[in-house]
Amino acid sequence: MCGIVAYLGDKEAYPILINGLRRLEYRGYDSAGVALLQGKDLIIYKCQGKVSDLESHINGRSTTGSVGIGHTRWATHGPPNDVNAHPHQGTSGDLALIHNGIIENYAPIKEELKHRGHTFRSDTDTEVLVHLIDDIQRSEGVDLAEAVRLALASVVGAYAIVVVDRKDPDVMVAARKSSPLVIGIGEGEFFCASDATPIVEHTKNVVYVEDGEIAVIDRRKGLKIRNVKNQEKTPFITELEMHLEALEKGGYDHFMLKEIHEQPRSIRDCLRGRLNPSKGEVMLGGIKDYEQKFVNAKRILIVGCGTSWHAGMVGEYLFEEFARIPVEVEYASEFRYRNPIVNEDDIVIAISQSGETADTLAAIELAKGRGATIIGICNVVGSSIARVTHAGSYTHAGPEIGVASTKAFTAQVTVLTLMALMIGQKKGMLSGSNFYRLLNELDAIPDKVHKVLQKEAQIKYIADIYKDAANALYLGRGYTFPVALEGALKLKEISYIHAEGYPAAEMKHGPIALIDDAMPVFVIATKGASYEKVVSNIQEVKARKGKIIAIVTEGDTVVKGLADHVIEIPETPDALVPLLSVVPMQLISYHIAVMRGCNVDQPRNLAKSVTVE
Ligand code: F6R
Repeated sequence: MCGIVAYLGDKEAYPILINGLRRLEYRGYDSAGVALLQGKDLIIYKCQGKVSDLESHINGRSTTGSVGIGHTRWATHGPPNDVNAHPHQGTSGDLALIHNGIIENYAPIKEELKHRGHTFRSDTDTEVLVHLIDDIQRSEGVDLAEAVRLALASVVGAYAIVVVDRKDPDVMVAARKSSPLVIGIGEGEFFCASDATPIVEHTKNVVYVEDGEIAVIDRRKGLKIRNVKNQEKTPFITELEMHLEALEKGGYDHFMLKEIHEQPRSIRDCLRGRLNPSKGEVMLGGIKDYEQKFVNAKRILIVGCGTSWHAGMVGEYLFEEFARIPVEVEYASEFRYRNPIVNEDDIVIAISQSGETADTLAAIELAKGRGATIIGICNVVGSSIARVTHAGSYTHAGPEIGVASTKAFTAQVTVLTLMALMIGQKKGMLSGSNFYRLLNELDAIPDKVHKVLQKEAQIKYIADIYKDAANALYLGRGYTFPVALEGALKLKEISYIHAEGYPAAEMKHGPIALIDDAMPVFVIATKGASYEKVVSNIQEVKARKGKIIAIVTEGDTVVKGLADHVIEIPETPDALVPLLSVVPMQLISYHIAVMRGCNVDQPRNLAKSVTVE
C-alpha cells in the first residue's frame, strides 16, 4: 500500500526522499509527493502518477532543505489525483503529514472540524487527521508531539504517519498503529520509512516502532519514543541483515524475473542449517520450544491471503500426509469475521511474505485472544506478524520487490515441508527410510528448480502462442491443485487475462462449459497418485477442442501424445511437485504479461503489502 519515507539530518533531504520513494514504489503507486522544510518555510510538491512524474513536476524548482517527508499513495479515500496525493496540510499551513493506513472514524471527526471552521480540499481521511492535529495544537497550545498524541487518542483505524511543523523545523514526529514504520539511525541523521528498503543504503541500525508508539525525532535531543498514554519507552535498536544488491534488478529486465530465477538460491537459503539429510535431521530453531505443542495438536489452522493462502493449502496436504494432523486453511479475511472456533490446543500458522497484511494480522489477534499458539511463516525480518506471533520460521527468500509473489511462495512451501516432515518424524508417522528419502529429495529441489528454469526459452515460445487469450483455465489435483490456483492468480494479476484454477476433477461440474478451441488449459499432469485421473481430464478437454499445455514428469510419453505442448520437470515425490511445477507457471505469466506490454513489477491496482482491510 502507501509508502512513507522521511529524513532529518544534515544532508539534502530531497535526493534521499526521491530515492527512497523509488525503492518504495512497489508498495503502491498512483500518486506521490514530498514536503521539504526550508528554514521556516514549508514547500510541498505532489502529483498523480509515478515517482518519475513527481520528479518531472519538481524539475527546476527549489529542493533544498535537510528535513523532509515523502509518500507514494495507493488510493483508498478518493481517486488518485493531485489534490488527494500526500503530504496533506491543516488549516494553519504549518504542518505537513504523510499517512499509510485508514482512519476509520474520519467522517464524524471531519464534521466536527467543519463546525469548528475547517475547510477541506481533498477526499482523504488523511487530511482530516492533519486538520485534527493542527486544531489541537492551536486550541491547546501544545507542541507537535503532544498534539499528535492527543489526536491519535481519538482516532480509530490503522496508521503509520510522519508529521513536520514549520514552526519547529528541527523536530519530526512519527507514529504507528497496525501499519509498519521503521526508523533508521545514522550519524546525526534519522530516517523513517514503511520498510527498511529506503534506509539500508544509509544505515543498518533501525528501530521498529511498535503499535501505539509515537517517535519524536529531535535534531538536538535525538530519538525519544513514548506511547499514546505518554509513557516513555527505550528504543530497541536492531541491525538490518538486508543487502543493497537484493534491492536492485541485477541485470534482469524486471524484479519478477530476477526473483523467479533466484529460486534455486532462495530455496537453498531457506533449507540452510535446517535440513541435514545425511544425519536424517530437520531443525527449525524458531519453533523448537513449540515442537511438543505441534506433536500434541489436535488441529492446525492455517491463515493467509493470496499466494500465501495457496502455500497454506499445500501445507494442508503436507501436514495431513506426514504428521496426520487435521488442517483447515482459511482466508485470513474470512476467518476474522466468522467467529471461528479456536481453542487452546490449536496451532495457528500465519503465512505472510510481507508480515504486514492487515487481515492476517487481525486473524492472528483473534486466534491469540482465544488461546491458540500462533506460529508465523514470514519473509520480512522484524515485520509486524513476525513480532506478534509466539514463534515462527523465516523464509529467508530475501526482499521480494515484484508485486507478484514468486520466490516467497516456494520458500513458504519449503518451510511448511520442513515443518510437516519434522513433526511427522517426531510423531513417529514416517518410517525411517521414507523420512531419509524425502529429506534427500528436498535437498535436491534447488538443483531441480534450476533445471526447470532452463526451459525458459520453450516457455517463452508457448507464451507467445497464448498471449492474446481472453481466458485461461488451470487444473491440478492433490498437491498440485493449489499450484493451479497460484498459476491462475499469477496470470490474472500481471497480464489481466481472466484465469481460473480448479481441481481437475471439478472441471466436469461447470467449467467444462467454457472450453472451446480458444481456451488454453494449463494442466499439471506429473507422474504420481492422480496421474491416470488427470490424463482422463486431459482427454475430456481435448474432446472439446481445448488447448492443453501440460506440465509433465521428464520422459512422459502418454500426455505428450495428447497435449498441444508439454513442459517437462524433473521427477520428485508428489509432496514436492508444487516446488517445481509452479516455476513454469510463473514464467508463462511473466512472459505473457511482458508480451502484452503490461507493467509486470507494478500491475495496475495492486500493492505489494496490503496493510488495510
Ligand atoms: C500475489 C500476491 C498477493 C499476496 C497477498 C498476501 O502474487 O502477491 O496475493 O500473496 O497479498 O501478502 P503477504 O504474503 O505479504 O501477506
